[in-house]
Amino acid sequence: MKRYIIGVTGASGSILAKRLLSYLAGTGTQLHIIATDMGKKVFEYETGISWEVFLNTLTRDRTNVFAYDNNNLFASVASGSFTAEAMMIVPCSMATAAKIATGTGGNLLCRAADVCLKEKIRLVLSPREAPLNAVHLRNLLTLSECGAVILPPVPMFYADSGNYGDMIDKIVGRILKSAGIENDLYSKWNMGKDC
Ligand SMILES: Cc1cc2nc3c(=O)[nH]c(=O)nc-3n(C[C@H](O)[C@H](O)[C@H](O)COP(=O)(O)O)c2cc1C
Repeated sequence: MKRYIIGVTGASGSILAKRLLSYLAGTGTQLHIIATDMGKKVFEYETGISWEVFLNTLTRDRTNVFAYDNNNLFASVASGSFTAEAMMIVPCSMATAAKIATGTGGNLLCRAADVCLKEKIRLVLSPREAPLNAVHLRNLLTLSECGAVILPPVPMFYADSGNYGDMIDKIVGRILKSAGIENDLYSKWNMGKDC
């Protein structure tokens, strides 16, 4: 069974985490979820659903979904011996991006990301901030140079139907694809193939 680690932080964009986790949980792949304290709070603020209630809906009647305490550095995902296909951090705050870029983690989410970088496991970050200052840009560049995929949650305006749910699906579909997960949340661009 394929395993994925999903980090959720306190950047805006909790709806992306909600959609991504709901989609993945239904695929039967093994999910290892780590949320920061601010990730949980912003999730509740933006979606109106408490993180714990949401987690319960994901884990109920499922044996493929695991959630970790972000302070538990003894968890399996903190070790290089844990094998996973990819890790996705959705949404990724500038604070968490900075901690991973500088190796100053100190929590399970950052440690798991650090392990992915050192073990060459695919790491996809969906960072959200606007505007980005030079510190943010430098940290994101460092992460890119270290092998992470930086995929900001940017709408595909050229293919936008104007429907919010559609827009979220397309962004989540791109994140999943970057993590190596084929999915049907967005369709590939095929216009212009005759040009
Ligand atoms: C409603 C709300 C929205 C926020 N949106 C962002 C954001 O889009 N990007 C960001 O980097 N930080 C954002 N923050 C600030 C982060 O939550 C803050 O930097 C926090 O320390 C991140 O912690 P974490 O990385 O451990 O989750 C937001 C905070 C709140 C309360």
